[in-house]
Amino acid sequence: MASAKPGVATREPSRQPLTPVLHRVVRRQRETEDVVTLWLEPLDGERLTFRAGQFNMVSALGVGEAAISVSGAPGVAGPLRHSVRDVGAVSHALCTCEVGDLIGVRGPFGTDWGIAARDGEPDPRDTVIVAGGIGLAPLRGAIDELVAARAWGSGRVFVLVGAREPAQLVFTDDLERWERDGAVVLSTVDRATPQWHGRVGLVTTLLSDAGFDPANCRALLCGPEIMMRFTARALSDLGVDPERVWVSLERNMQCGLGWCGHCQLGPLLLCRDGPVVRYGGLVAELLNQRER
Ligand SMILES: Cc1cc2nc3c(=O)[nH]c(=O)nc-3n(C[C@H](O)[C@H](O)[C@H](O)COP(=O)(O)OP(=O)(O)OC[C@H]3O[C@@H](n4cnc5c(N)ncnc54)[C@H](O)[C@@H]3O)c2cc1C
Ligand code: FES
Repeated sequence: MASAKPGVATREPSRQPLTPVLHRVVRRQRETEDVVTLWLEPLDGERLTFRAGQFNMVSALGVGEAAISVSGAPGVAGPLRHSVRDVGAVSHALCTCEVGDLIGVRGPFGTDWGIAARDGEPDPRDTVIVAGGIGLAPLRGAIDELVAARAWGSGRVFVLVGAREPAQLVFTDDLERWERDGAVVLSTVDRATPQWHGRVGLVTTLLSDAGFDPANCRALLCGPEIMMRFTARALSDLGVDPERVWVSLERNMQCGLGWCGHCQLGPLLLCRDGPVVRYGGLVAELLNQRER
């Protein structure tokens, strides 16, 4: 026990932000050839609470740590859920974990998508979600919340997803579920296969006939940075205010706490001021500068 004031006993915080909490993999599901979803239970029994869009630093023991968004929905009881794309040492070790293995988790960190809580006022605006590939992971919980909010009076929900090939579309069961629950769900692939009868083309090609009201909507984007820049530009061309466009940005994350500076973008530290940031103004300028 530590004492903040003489004579007043306070509980030592049970979790330190730099100390990973051991979690056991309780379920594992392959989503695509290179994406795996893991469900995790903390060994200390204390499940963490988070907001949709936040991330954890997830560690493969003896290999290293990577920033991974929570792909579950806040407020839904059950194990912590992360979906990982196998791109390097840490993500490969996580993707090859088996049920029963231990991994480390510290967090949650960063900003969220700002979806109104159920006890708030219904938000009448349309919400347009645009995701590329594994970019759907940090949006998945937000979509669950938005689809639920629609049922109690909030605006329409449009889920537009793109992938390089049909086999790389993630969470296809969720796409069907959201459509059944009233969302407009459209998907497209860059390269079709003989079995694919859907749309072919970049995700931006879905915007113009999706049916949302550009003058009364907000947009949430996550995917490769170039995709988000082109999508933000296309939304602006359709009349969506860039101040109502939100993007989730990836940078090299180390501490997750705004201490080390690895995740800097101009004046922003994206582990603290992001990953979810408003696109308009400064962020648009910074992202467009990088491409010059
Ligand atoms: C906020 C946030 C949320 C994220 N959420 C998710 C998520 O939900 N799921 C997910 O799968 N990923 C997510 N990521 C991405 C993930 O953190 C990175 O892919 C991470 O780098 C993986 O670590 P790694 O050791 O497996 O790969 P790394 O070794 O870090 O390699 C990652 C990629 O970068 C390339 N690379 C590595 N080093 C260099 C270099 N020196 N120069 C150029 N390219 C290089 C690799 O070729 C590879 O394509 C998120 C990132 C952030 C910041
Ligand atoms: S990761 Fe260290 S400051 Fe952001």
